[in-house]
Amino acid sequence: MAKRALTSFVCSQCGNDSPKWLGKCPVCGEWNTYVEEVIATKSSARQLPGLTGYETQKIHPVLLQQIDTGEEIRMDLKDGELNRVLGGGLVPGSMVLIGGEPGIGKSTLVLQTVLKLKNYKTLYVSGEESARQLKLRAERIGTEYEKLYILCETNLEQIFTHINTLKPDLLIVDSVQTIYTERVESSPGSITQVRESAAALLKFAKETGTPTLLIGHINKEGSIAGPKVLEHIVDTVLQFEGDRHYMYRILRNIKNRFGSTSELGIYEMRQNGLREVDNPSELLLTRNHEGLSGVAIAAAIEGIRPFLIETQALVSTAAYGTPQRSATGFDIRRMNMLLAVLEKRAGFKLIQKDVFLNIAGGLRVNDPAMDLSVISAILSSSLDVAIEWEICMSGEVGLSGEIRPVNRIEQRILEAEKLGFKKILIPQNNLKNKSNSNIKIVQVKKVEEAFRELFG
Ligand code: TYD
Ligand code: MG
Repeated sequence: MAKRALTSFVCSQCGNDSPKWLGKCPVCGEWNTYVEEVIATKSSARQLPGLTGYETQKIHPVLLQQIDTGEEIRMDLKDGELNRVLGGGLVPGSMVLIGGEPGIGKSTLVLQTVLKLKNYKTLYVSGEESARQLKLRAERIGTEYEKLYILCETNLEQIFTHINTLKPDLLIVDSVQTIYTERVESSPGSITQVRESAAALLKFAKETGTPTLLIGHINKEGSIAGPKVLEHIVDTVLQFEGDRHYMYRILRNIKNRFGSTSELGIYEMRQNGLREVDNPSELLLTRNHEGLSGVAIAAAIEGIRPFLIETQALVSTAAYGTPQRSATGFDIRRMNMLLAVLEKRAGFKLIQKDVFLNIAGGLRVNDPAMDLSVISAILSSSLDVAIEWEICMSGEVGLSGEIRPVNRIEQRILEAEKLGFKKILIPQNNLKNKSNSNIKIVQVKKVEEAFRELFG
């Protein structure tokens, strides 16, 4: 009797395994995510080559008091945005995963970063693009550098052989889904393969102190490589996102063992690579809408950075029975809630109107302080009365139309003032100590008050 291959069913969302197929994953609660995978390790397979010539550290239990925290030396990546999102540079021995949809610019970001690192020997393992393609891309970005090694290889055993001879200071793997190890039988890209390969790379990073950057694709549900397992393995998860039709790209930190996750990096995709955007407000405000209705400027904060952003709304009479609702860059359920508040407080006839909402620049802003500008832009378009262009606003709107306090109001006011706004609408009792600033601060308690201030 032929011996059956040893298989197991693995949840493609969280990586949980089970000997039999399950409809619903008991761990993550997702439906229909179990796939069968061969888990047997090949007896004939070679072991991963040991790390030779590296000073690997023996690990012993140590007393907490005796651990030397010292000043952590981080690797400066010569990219302000990336450094900040990582919490001040790359930590030696850490493993960072950069996830994003195909074509968003992950390879470009990593390549242009390593091209700038003159003091480090970098090994760029590419399983997707040929060396020629990478060279063309590097030429497009425009910096040449002699200490960057390209390796077009997907076999993990082979990769480790080259690592042993080259001893890079920084390792890049583009992408983790293309790498496979001979030790497990399942096909490249499967959960078992990705997990095994990532675990072996993590071991390498930790034992040798070599920082390792993995690039990973996001599946359509938005989780990296289906297997969320990767997110547990690595130290830091960065997500590169943006609308491919716009030039802005956002680098978000969704997990960080060495810093805060509230940081955000903004880039602009150019012909010659990605450009850091250090002053987002100036790009997000076009200021060519003077006198046009349906535009409100929000003083928003993402991470720790305040910026001013345009909220645009278009309200028209619904042609069909069911009015259309669409929101780009804003949660549509939240918009529907705000529309209901408008109906109650400003006599806005919901049922007869189509509402389209757009946050400028293809950004997705999660700051609740956007509410006031969303509701004002919609009313402005509905009334066809423009909001004065020197006014901006910040405030969360509650169900009864009250305007709730938001965080870091001082920073928002400062940014608005810096950009030359004359007036800012903020929630009442939000600002504790009023400093004498050039901008007129108007405190509002209810949406009606805000509307009176804006539309008279
Ligand atoms: P890429 O880095 O290959 O994406 P990923 O690795 O996330 O799949 O980026 C692909 C897109 O970026 C491609 O559509 C072309 C565009 N691009 C530019 O606009 N300017 C550039 O300088 C480069 C290198 C790419
Ligand atoms: Mg790529």
